[in-house]
Amino acid sequence: MLQVLVSRKVLVADGICSFELQSLDGSPLPQFSAGAHIDVHTPAGVTRQYSLCNHPEERHRYLIGVLKDPQSRGGSQAMHEQLEQGQTLTISEPRNLFPLAAEGKKHLLFAGGIGITPMLAMAYELSQRGVDFELHYSFRANASAAFLDVLNEAPFASQVKLYNNAAAPAAMLDAPAVLATPETGVHLYVCGPIGYMEYVLNSAAAQGWPAEQTHREFFSAAPVEHDGDQPFEVELAKSGQTFHIPADRTVFEVLDEAGIEIETSCEQGICGSCVTRVLQGTPDHRDQFMTDKEHAANDRFTPCCSRSKSPRLVLDL
Ligand code: FES
Repeated sequence: MLQVLVSRKVLVADGICSFELQSLDGSPLPQFSAGAHIDVHTPAGVTRQYSLCNHPEERHRYLIGVLKDPQSRGGSQAMHEQLEQGQTLTISEPRNLFPLAAEGKKHLLFAGGIGITPMLAMAYELSQRGVDFELHYSFRANASAAFLDVLNEAPFASQVKLYNNAAAPAAMLDAPAVLATPETGVHLYVCGPIGYMEYVLNSAAAQGWPAEQTHREFFSAAPVEHDGDQPFEVELAKSGQTFHIPADRTVFEVLDEAGIEIETSCEQGICGSCVTRVLQGTPDHRDQFMTDKEHAANDRFTPCCSRSKSPRLVLDL
C-alpha cells in the first residue's frame, strides 16, 4: 500500500474527474506498464480499481480518470464529492492485468467513454516504441469525452479516430468494417461500457479474430441471475479442509472468513486477481475476465463470484 498526495483534481468532462497523484516526499513512484491499474481506497471505504492513463515513463505522478457512476456502490461518487486537491489517499502499487501483447506488430485500441483511460497509456507507450497502432475512441457527446484535448495535442494525434455518437449515425464506429480483416500479429484491445465491449468483441468474433488476439478490460460486471444458486462444497487440496458454501455466499467470503488468503480486487469477476486453479469438479463461471475457451477448460475459476455445477470443487489451495 502507498500513501499518495492528490496534487491535482480536474473536471475533464461531464461527470469525469482526473486525479493526479504524487508521492508524499517527492520520490519516484513505482514503475508501471501500459494497461496497469491501481486499487484506490476511496473515501467511501470501498476499494475501486482505476487504470493509469499517463505516460508509463513518468515516475513523478500517476493520473487516473474517474467517472461518477450514480449506479455504483458509492466509490466513484465519494471520489468526486469528498476527495480534494491536497488530501492524501491510500492506493496499491500498480498491477497490470491488461498488458499489451509483446509480440504484436500492430495494435487496435478501442475505447468507449471512460474506457479511454488504459488506452491513453497504451497509446503513449506504443507511440514511443514506434509500434504501429490505431486508437478508436467512441463517446456519447463531446462534453462527456475525457482527454480530447490531450489526444488532439498528442504526438500520435493522427492515429486517433474519434466517434461522436451524438452526431449522425455515419459518425459512429462501424466495428465490423474496421475489423473486417483479421491479420496475424495484429492485436485488439477493448475497454468501455458493457454494450460497447460486446459490440466490438462480437464483431471481432464474427469476422474471425482469434480469441488470443483480443484483449478486454471491463469496468463493471454484467448483471447475474442468482435465483437458482445452490449450496456446494469446496475442498482445499493442500490442507484437506472442506467448506460448505451456502447459496447466498461466495467461495471467497467463506474462505476469507476462515482466514484462507485469496488475493482479490474487484470482487465482481472482472479483474482476474482471484483466479484459482480447480483440480476437480466443474465450476459455474460467472466472471467476465476469462475467455470462453478458458471457461471451457474448467481448470481455473474466480472464487469472488463463480460457483459450482458439481456438488464439490477441489481447489489448488
Ligand atoms: S477479485 Fe476480481 S475477478 Fe475476482
